[in-house]
Amino acid sequence: MSQTYVGILLNTGMYRGIPTRRTGQESLSLYEETAREYGLTPCYLRLADIDLSSESCIAYVYNGIDYSKQELPLPQVIHNRALYPRAEAVHKIRKLMAMGITVFNVNNRYGKDTIHRLLWNAPHLRHYLPAAMPLTSRSLSTMMSRYPDLILKPIRGSVGHGIMRLQYREDAGWALIYPSPTGPRDWITTRLRRGELPGWARRRLERVPYLVQERIPLVEYEGRPVDLRVTVQRGIHGDFGITGRFAKVSPKGGFVCNIAKGGEALPAEDVLAQILPAALVPAALSHVEALALATCRYLSDRLPLLADVGLDIGLTPEGRPYFIECNGRDQRYGFRKAGMESIWKDTYRRPMAFARYLLDQPAKGTIAPRKGSAKTT
Ligand SMILES: Nc1ncnc2c1ncn2[C@@H]1O[C@H](COP(=O)(O)OP(=O)(O)O)[C@@H](O)[C@H]1O
Ligand SMILES: [Mg+2]
Repeated sequence: MSQTYVGILLNTGMYRGIPTRRTGQESLSLYEETAREYGLTPCYLRLADIDLSSESCIAYVYNGIDYSKQELPLPQVIHNRALYPRAEAVHKIRKLMAMGITVFNVNNRYGKDTIHRLLWNAPHLRHYLPAAMPLTSRSLSTMMSRYPDLILKPIRGSVGHGIMRLQYREDAGWALIYPSPTGPRDWITTRLRRGELPGWARRRLERVPYLVQERIPLVEYEGRPVDLRVTVQRGIHGDFGITGRFAKVSPKGGFVCNIAKGGEALPAEDVLAQILPAALVPAALSHVEALALATCRYLSDRLPLLADVGLDIGLTPEGRPYFIECNGRDQRYGFRKAGMESIWKDTYRRPMAFARYLLDQPAKGTIAPRKGSAKTT
């Protein structure tokens, strides 16, 4: 029987785990289950297994018992869940798209400086941004003269890696707070001498591009800073919607809320109900959602085929939201950790629905569903 395939593009590490079902936090069975609802069959592939000249690929397909490698015609629509830092990969994806294949979420990691600059140019979004500058010794002095609490973060970083905090206290002056090698929840605090960063930190900041950003005073739960993950995805009608959101609570004594750094995922309402005045919670959450939607709509007019985004949004004790970060490869498992199984499933369903939408776009001409019978290799 002929099938309509949707490609799921994975990095090699995850791809290699498919036959033994070791795909980390990514659930392949949820792709299969939700794709079926839209008459689609997912096939899992790597960029390296795409042959542009024959317009075919080798991909894993679930056959009801296990995953088998098959040679397939290139799927017309591909959902990118991989990161490609290398230029050759980006070049190959471009060629793929020039052939009429639609790759959504084609770039999953934009520099934090690029996103900041784009949003800064939007008058309706600018006041939701913490002040930020690419870090140089000059910009650092400027920021230290303006704000008593700063976050230093790698421009191309993720999952809280490499983040430091620079904080001024009346009694103790400036201190740098940075991760300890002893574990993701341990932090070291070093006082600055004559306002100068330690030598190792200066060397690191010269080597790796960083952003220096005003630290937003995040709401706290049991003394632990909290931010929100908001998953915004395009669905069956092609437009963005909020799939769900949860709160990330940093470990005790920490200031980064990433789950990979020991943060706890909890339903947002439950957490906020305990830390904000009750009357403020619904309004704050609506404000967060409106900001998330407006941000994605604005970015998607400027970045190619953005369709599936996880935003980090901070809230102040007054309930005022701030944009912190935009992730192209959203870590969906936070919803499962927060006990929100059905929304976790939705985070897979919506991109499959969007794939269906793309396949059904007659206006685009090139996106007619291509049906191919599979050859098992
Ligand atoms: N400007 C800021 N104010 C307050 N907290 C911040 C700020 N920037 C980052 N954080 C904290 O650090 C975490 C990681 O920063 P983020 O910008 O999301 O980078 P990453 O890509 O490493 O996740 C955030 O989830 C938030 O908890
Ligand atoms: Mg983040």
